[in-house]
Amino acid sequence: MPRLSSTRSTFLSFQPPAIGEEEIAAVAETLRSGWLTSGPNAEELERRFAEYVGARHAVALASGTAALHLSLVAAGIGPGDEVITTPITWPASANVVVHAGARPVFADVRESDLNIDPDAVAAAVTPRTKAILPVHLAGQPCDLDPLHALGLPVIEDAAHATESTYRGRKIGALSLATCFSLYATKNVAAGEGGMVTTDDGELAAAIRNLRLMRRGEGSLYDVTVAGFKANLSDVLAAVALCQLEKVEEHAEIRRRHVAAYDAAVAELPGLEPLVRDPRDVHALHLYVVRVKAAEAGADRDDYQRALREELIGTSIHFLPVHRLTYYRERYPDQPSLPVAERAGAEVLSLPLSPAHSAADVEDAIDALRRVHARFTGR
Ligand SMILES: Cc1ncc(COP(=O)(O)O)c(C=O)c1O
Repeated sequence: MPRLSSTRSTFLSFQPPAIGEEEIAAVAETLRSGWLTSGPNAEELERRFAEYVGARHAVALASGTAALHLSLVAAGIGPGDEVITTPITWPASANVVVHAGARPVFADVRESDLNIDPDAVAAAVTPRTKAILPVHLAGQPCDLDPLHALGLPVIEDAAHATESTYRGRKIGALSLATCFSLYATKNVAAGEGGMVTTDDGELAAAIRNLRLMRRGEGSLYDVTVAGFKANLSDVLAAVALCQLEKVEEHAEIRRRHVAAYDAAVAELPGLEPLVRDPRDVHALHLYVVRVKAAEAGADRDDYQRALREELIGTSIHFLPVHRLTYYRERYPDQPSLPVAERAGAEVLSLPLSPAHSAADVEDAIDALRRVHARFTGR
C-alpha cells in the first residue's frame, strides 16, 4: 500500500526504456521486410557502432554476456587459465569465465568508484593469468593504463559505458576487445543484444565465426568451429539503431537528472554518491549512492524498502559476486575482499532513465528526503 506521504499515485520504475515512435516504426518496417534474423540492420548497426566508438570492427551479438563469452573464447582462454575480474559487477562478467573453462579470480575494488583496483589486480597475477576483465561500473571508466601496463590481454566489460571516454579516449578500442550490452535498461537499449568492438581483425573474424554456425553457398555448408547461436536479430538491431541515433540526446537528459540528484544528495548526510573522475566522460548509466548507516540512520535495505513504500523503484549494483552461492561453493578458497564486501551492503541505485521526466526525478528526491528525515530524526 502506498504511504500517505507519497506524492505519487503510480510506481516510479527504476530504469524504464525510452522508446519512441521511431523505434516502433523501425520494428514495423523490419517485420514487413520479411527479414527477421541477422541481416541488413545488424550489419548497419555494426558499422554505426564501430564508427561511434572509433573502432575498426564491431560484431553484433545476442547479449552482452555473449559478447564477453565469445571474446574470451576467441582470445584462446580455456581450461587451466585464470582471468582476473571485479567482484562488483553483474555475475555475467564472471560466469563467462567459467563458461570458457577458466577460473575467475576476483581482485578488490577501489573505495572511490568501486572499480577494480589496479594494485589488487597486479597482486592477483599468477603464471596462469591469461586475461583481465575489468568493468566500467555505472559508466565511470576504470583505470585502464595501469591494467594495460601489466602486459596481459584486457577484455573490457563496457555494458555501462557506451558514451564513456577514458582520459580523452573513447571506450571501445583501447584494449584487445570491448564488450557492450544492448539490454533493456542500457544506454543503447534494444531489449536484448550485445556488441564487441576491437581493432584486431583476427579477433573480430574469430568472434564472427563463433557467433553462428558457418553457412556456405546454396544448400551446401561446412563447420570449421563448434559455433554458438549468439547472433543479433534484425528486429532488435532496428531498435538499437534508433537508440544509437538518440544517444547524445538521452545523455543530456541523464546529465540533468544526475545534476538534480547531486544537489539533493549533498544535503543528505550518510548518502554518498560514487566518485566520478573529472578527467573522464562518465556514461551516467547508474546513479549509485552508498548508504552509510551510522549517519543515514538506517541501512541500505531499510532505505530500499522505505523508498518502495513511497512508490520509488531502486536497484542494487552490485552484490559481490564472490559471495554468491555458486562462487562460494565452487571456489571455497575465495579471498576476503573488504572494500567490495562493505560496498555490497551499502550501494543503492536511484531511478535514472531518459524516459523519466524532471518531475519523476523530483518525486524520487522528495521521497528520499522524507525517508532520510524519518530515519535520521532531523
Ligand atoms: C556490468 C555488466 N556486465 C555484463 C552484463 C550482461 O549484459 P547482457 O544482459 O546484455 O547479457 C550486464 C547487464 O546486463 C552488466 O551490467
